[in-house]
Amino acid sequence: MTDYEHTPVTVDGKTAVVIGGTSGIGEAIALGFASEGADVVATSRSSERVRDTAAKLRELGAETVERPCDVTDRATLERLRDEVDDELGEVDVLVTSAGAVSRDRVLDVSESEWRRVVDVQLDGVYRAVQTFAREMSGGSVVAISSVAAELAMSHLPAYSAAKGGTDAFVRAAAKELAPDVRVNALSPGFVITPQNAETYAEGTEKRERLDRRTPMKRVADREEMVGAAIYLASDASSFTTGEVIRVDGGFAPSAL
Ligand SMILES: NC(=O)c1ccc[n+]([C@@H]2O[C@H](COP(=O)([O-])OP(=O)(O)OC[C@H]3O[C@@H](n4cnc5c(N)ncnc54)[C@H](OP(=O)(O)O)[C@@H]3O)[C@@H](O)[C@H]2O)c1
Repeated sequence: MTDYEHTPVTVDGKTAVVIGGTSGIGEAIALGFASEGADVVATSRSSERVRDTAAKLRELGAETVERPCDVTDRATLERLRDEVDDELGEVDVLVTSAGAVSRDRVLDVSESEWRRVVDVQLDGVYRAVQTFAREMSGGSVVAISSVAAELAMSHLPAYSAAKGGTDAFVRAAAKELAPDVRVNALSPGFVITPQNAETYAEGTEKRERLDRRTPMKRVADREEMVGAAIYLASDASSFTTGEVIRVDGGFAPSAL
C-alpha cells in the first residue's frame, strides 16, 4: 500500500443480515447496503413486510432470503441463521434495528410493558449477537441504539434503560469478540419513521421543540443513518470496536 491508499468505505461484496430491516432505519440501512453491492437479508416478524422489502432488495441487485424472525424468540433467529448460511454463506455484517417503545412514566410503567420493551430492545440484541456472531469468522455487528441511552428523556424509562444496556453490552461484546468480530453501536437522535411519525408530525409542538433544540435545526431522514452504518460495517472501520457513534444532528452533545 502506498501512503495515500486506504480501505474504501463500502459494503460491496459483503453479506448482511438486518433484523428490524423491514421498516424505518433498518430498512433504509438494508436498502443502502444493497445499493452498495451487498447481499442483504432484511427480516422482522411480519412475513408481508419481509416479502415487500425483499422485493426492493432484489430490484437493487441483491441476493436475499425471505425469512421472518422475532428477536424475542431464539429459535426463529437460529432458523434464520441456518437458512442464510445455506443460501448465502457466511454473514459478514449483523445489524440489529428491531423497535419497541413504551411512553409511560417511571411510576406508571407496568411490568409487562417494561418486559416487552427490554425483551426486544436489549435482550433481542444479546440473542441476535449470540446467534450470529458465534458463526462469524470476521466482520461487524452494528446495534442501533439511541441518544436516550445517555440523556434523561421524559416518559421513556424502559426504552432508555434498554438502550443504556445496549451500549454497555456493545462494549462488553466488543472486548470478548475481538479481534474476529467488531461490535459497535449507531446512536440516532430523532429520525422520522413509522414508529414516531404521529408523535413528531410536522406542525406539532413536539416537532417544533425538537427542531429548535437540535443544533442542525431539524430531525433526520432515515437515509441519513445509512452512511454511518456503512462505515461501521465496512473494512474502513477495521480498528473501531466497542464504540457508540451518535448521528443526532448535535442533539446529545448540546444537551450535556
Ligand atoms: N426513529 C427514531 O427517531 C429512533 C431514534 C433512536 C433510535 N431508534 C431505534 O432505531 C431502531 C429502529 O426504529 P425505527 O424508528 O426505524 O422503527 P420502525 O420503523 O417501527 O421499525 C422497527 C422494525 O423492527 C421490527 N420489529 C419490531 N419488533 C420486532 C421483533 N420482536 N423481532 C424482529 N423485528 C421486530 C419491525 O417489523 P415487524 O413489526 O414486522 O416485526 C420493523 O421492521 C429501534 O431500535 C429504535 O429504538 C429510532
